[in-house]
Amino acid sequence: MKFKLWVTLTILFFIYSFYVYIYSSSEKTPVQPTASVLSGWQVWQNKNCHTCHQLYGLGGYMGPDLTNIASDPTRGSDAYMKAFMKNGTDKMPDLHLTEEEMNSLVSFLRWVDKSGKSRVGKESVHWTGTYIF
Ligand code: HEC
Repeated sequence: MKFKLWVTLTILFFIYSFYVYIYSSSEKTPVQPTASVLSGWQVWQNKNCHTCHQLYGLGGYMGPDLTNIASDPTRGSDAYMKAFMKNGTDKMPDLHLTEEEMNSLVSFLRWVDKSGKSRVGKESVHWTGTYIF
């Protein structure tokens, strides 16, 4: 009896390990941040963008989630993103950013976009893990 249980658990362990292996080998290689990305990250923190905007679903809720803005067909252009950063709107304050700060913020947001998804579609969720293609 004990032997059967031991064999069953061992087999299950190997099957599960196989699934974990498949899951982890499909992981994308992380994109290394450039100097511009890192300075954009600094500006993001110093200007407290996170108090109103979320990245990966975390942050304030006054403004929209910006995790995947860079790959959004309507919102992803440099000009669109910089228009908000340059003057603010009636809802977002003008943070008096320099041209250089805005460019590095755009690089930062493009880098964030490649690193994950803010919302994962149902079709990507499987009992062995979450797959984003
Ligand atoms: C006080 C809150 C607040 C802060 C701080 C703030 N934002 Fe915003 N942001 C908003 C709101 C609200 C909107 C939506 C504006 C609108 O629709 O008029 C917005 C919109 C945007 C958009 C356009 C998003 C879209 O989906 O169209 C970008 C890009 C953006 N903000 C970037 C930034 C960056 C970068 C910072 C930091 C330098 C920042 N914001 C700081 C409130 C804020």
